Amino acid sequence: MEELNLVKNRITELVKECNDEKCLVLLDKLAQGKMIRSKLILKIAEVNDESIELCAVVEMIHAASLLHDDVIDEADTRRGKPSINSLYDNKTSIMFGDILYSIAFTRLSQMDKKIAYEVSSAVTKLSIGEMIDVDLADTFNTSYDKYFDMIYKKTASLIEASAKAAALIAKKDENKYALYGKNLGLAFQMIDDILDITSSSETLGKPAMHDFYEGKVTIPYLLLHERLDNKQELENLYKIQLDDNQISWIKEKLQSTKALEDSISMAKKLGLEAIDALKDENSEDLIMIMKAMIEREF
Ligand code: FPP
Ligand code: MG
Repeated sequence: MEELNLVKNRITELVKECNDEKCLVLLDKLAQGKMIRSKLILKIAEVNDESIELCAVVEMIHAASLLHDDVIDEADTRRGKPSINSLYDNKTSIMFGDILYSIAFTRLSQMDKKIAYEVSSAVTKLSIGEMIDVDLADTFNTSYDKYFDMIYKKTASLIEASAKAAALIAKKDENKYALYGKNLGLAFQMIDDILDITSSSETLGKPAMHDFYEGKVTIPYLLLHERLDNKQELENLYKIQLDDNQISWIKEKLQSTKALEDSISMAKKLGLEAIDALKDENSEDLIMIMKAMIEREF
């Protein structure tokens, strides 16, 4: 997608305006993401100065949140490359996150008021979502409501705001696009949680089967726990470094109880709801984005 280069160039331009060499070096060390939020914005609002600015703002906020998340999760890798906290240290990752976040908000303050409101309030949700995620990792969570509230805030809120803001730029029906973005975001996080189990570390660019070790009871584990007769067997494996036999046991149970299959169906159902929200909007490309997201491998 050629247009994504316009977004990357705008981000570089904004960081250059800080007149700080180290910031440019750090920007260069950030691993390239899928830029799903930008793809979405550009499909909804097409390519123009306002939409490119919105993409740059949202991508910088997202990058800032990941710089902080990698410190919180003590992650060594991000998208297959060493994370900033492992290349430098936690302090650098936090500070560079703050810088990107501040540049983004400076630009956002110059944009349409309604867009600024939607995006900035989504960042509050995102930050609360991260806090809930961390708190939920304390003890084995068995509540679906808590899981969905957390993934809505942590992941779907910024995607929802991106789609809504893009619809505001394009003068399209903002509520329909917000609903599409929300469901796409929920499905996106669920697929992420499923891929943690089904993909290899090489494909993921981060350790596989890591969520459960980190204390995250994601959707496949929630379903599995509910369906097991002996729940203690799964609870005993919570937050421990799993050996090959234990990994095989979990994977076998996820198959035999259909917990994995049903998690995929739940994500697909949300994906279809997203598509349904746009049924009168003549948006073939957004349907393609949804389908590609569900079928992705990393
Ligand atoms: C990745 O989740 C994390 C997020 C999507 C949000 C993180 C949000 C914050 C740290 C709040 C601070 C926000 C700003 C703007 C500074 P994950 O750990 O489940 O996914 P991963 O495996 O990709 O790390
Ligand atoms: Mg993380």
